[in-house]
Amino acid sequence: MRMVIKIAGALLERDEDVQTLARQITELARAGHELLVIHGGGKIFTATLARMGITSRFINGLRVTDRETRDAAVMVFAGLLNKKLAGAISLAGQPAVGISAADAACFLAEPMQVEDCKGSLGFVGYLTEVNVDFLRSLWREGIVPVASCLGLGADGELYNINADHMAAAAAEFIRADRLIFLTDVAGVLDGDKVVSALRGTDIEDLIRKNKVSGGMILKLEAAKRALAGGVAEVRIVGGSKPRALLAAASAGRCPGTRVLPVVRASAKAAHGAAQ
Ligand SMILES: Nc1ncnc2c1ncn2[C@@H]1O[C@H](COP(=O)(O)OP(=O)(O)OP(=O)(O)O)[C@@H](O)[C@H]1O
Ligand SMILES: [Mg+2]
Repeated sequence: MRMVIKIAGALLERDEDVQTLARQITELARAGHELLVIHGGGKIFTATLARMGITSRFINGLRVTDRETRDAAVMVFAGLLNKKLAGAISLAGQPAVGISAADAACFLAEPMQVEDCKGSLGFVGYLTEVNVDFLRSLWREGIVPVASCLGLGADGELYNINADHMAAAAAEFIRADRLIFLTDVAGVLDGDKVVSALRGTDIEDLIRKNKVSGGMILKLEAAKRALAGGVAEVRIVGGSKPRALLAAASAGRCPGTRVLPVVRASAKAAHGAAQ
C-alpha cells in the first residue's frame, strides 16, 4: 500500500516518541509499503523564532512569513527536525533520507494569495507538484523519504507550506491509498470522546457547532481535500501510543478517527442492491 504519514511537530519533541515512530515506520517499510513521511514543526519553530527575537503576524490564521522567518523555517524544518527523524528511522533499521523541496525539485509550490489581503503572506505557499519519479526511485531502493513542509517556487525561493495541507496534496499527487495524520491528541474529539468515524457532512457539523478549532479545522479540511482527490481513507490518530501507527496502517479498526468519503445516494443504493 502507498501511504502518506504526516507527523505532528509535537511528536518530534521527545526522543522516545521519535524512536517509537521510527521503529513502526521501519516495520511498515519492511512489509513492502511505499511510504512518504511528512512532518510539521509546531512549537519548536515558534520557540526558535522567539529565541531569534522574531515576532509573527497572522492573517486568516496563517503566519506572515518574511524572509527572516522563512530562513528560520528552513533551518528548523529542513534542518534540525528533518535530520532527527530521518536519522532515527535509519538507526531503527530502514534507510531514510531527509528531503526538502529543493532536493531534485521534489515539491513545487506557488505563493498563496489571501482574499481581501491586508498585506502579503510572504513566503507561504501551497503544493502544486510532486516529483513522483524521484520518490519511486527511493522506494525501489527501499529508502523512506522524509519530507519537511516546504515547497520550491518557480522563483527559486523556498515557501513554507502548512504540513497538513502539504500531506493531503501530496497524497493526492502520488495517488496514495491512505493518508495518516499522527497528532498530539487521541483523534478528533467531540467533548471528551474520540469520534471513531466521520464523513463529509459530519465535518461541517463539527465545525459549525464549534466542536473543533485551530489546527484540527485545517486537518479536517485537508482530509476532505485528500478524499475528494481520490485517497480512499484518511485516519487521524494520536501518535504517542506505542503501536498507534501500525494500527492506523492496518486494514482493521484504528484507535483514532477514520475520515471516509461521502457515499453518494446512488452508489449506496447500488451497493445495497448488490448485497
Ligand atoms: N475537536 C477537536 N479534537 C481534537 N483536537 C482538537 C479539536 N479542536 C481543536 N483541537 C486542537 O487541534 C490540535 C491538533 O492540531 P495542531 O495543528 O496543533 O497539531 P498537528 O497539526 O497534529 O501538528 P503540526 O501543526 O505540528 O503539524 C490539538 O492538539 C487540539 O488542541
Ligand atoms: Mg497543525
